[in-house]
Amino acid sequence: GKKWLATLALTVGVGLMVSACGSGGQQASGGGSGSGAGAGDKVFVVGTDAAYPPFEKMEGDKITGFDIEVVQAVADAAGFKIEVKNTGWDPLFDGLDKGNVDLGISAVTITEERKQKYDFSDSYFDANQLILLPEDSPVTKLAELKGKKIGVQSATTGEQVVKKAFGDTYEGLKGYDDTPSAVDDFFIGRVDAVVADNAVLQDYAKKVKDKKFKLVKDDTFEVEHYGIIVKKGNTELLNKINQGLKTIKENGKLKEINDKYFGQ
Ligand code: ARG
Repeated sequence: GKKWLATLALTVGVGLMVSACGSGGQQASGGGSGSGAGAGDKVFVVGTDAAYPPFEKMEGDKITGFDIEVVQAVADAAGFKIEVKNTGWDPLFDGLDKGNVDLGISAVTITEERKQKYDFSDSYFDANQLILLPEDSPVTKLAELKGKKIGVQSATTGEQVVKKAFGDTYEGLKGYDDTPSAVDDFFIGRVDAVVADNAVLQDYAKKVKDKKFKLVKDDTFEVEHYGIIVKKGNTELLNKINQGLKTIKENGKLKEINDKYFGQ
């Protein structure tokens, strides 16, 4: 019957509601040198869409996750201060445009299209898309979902792969402002599948006890590289970020964070 679905939906739904309620959060950290607030003490605003565990999520009123630890380690290593804000996904890019966000870390895949408008740091994580499907689904690749409803977070690479497969105006494509909403709708049967980043869907899979779904990788899904994003031309900040990234790659800090979240 559909009873397990309802239970699943409830479990996931409540979890997602709890994480969604904390949005709008903001937190300052880093430095702490105690020296007066001189001109060199600029605090850089980091934007993120904190509804994408394990990369970024609200934990009470705190923003936590892999990306948050990475960007803090980068800032520490490069010697600048940051304040992380839960901007949401689209507003993160708007914020960079308008200048009220200095840098973004949000599992953002480095794409040619985005590189026209923004500058990216060196990559700090590799990913790929996965398809979330009912456990008993016979589907083994994206093409077989033609005609089905597919949920994605709007303006993500998940949306891109679906558009690439079925066209920009594909009727079955359902876009959401955030990924948890798409997953939520999958569990209550409003979409037949969700396409999103592997580590995020795997994180859901780990949390949901009753695993009546599966994750499918399509051979056409390319490897993606996450980067930290800044406004185009902000090379001063970008250089600092890359310097910090280089340091935490060399001194093992990035690996330490990686192991904490993803194991060896
Ligand atoms: N990696 C994908 C992209 O860049 C999805 C990122 C979504 N991130 C988030 N925090 N919601 O399009």
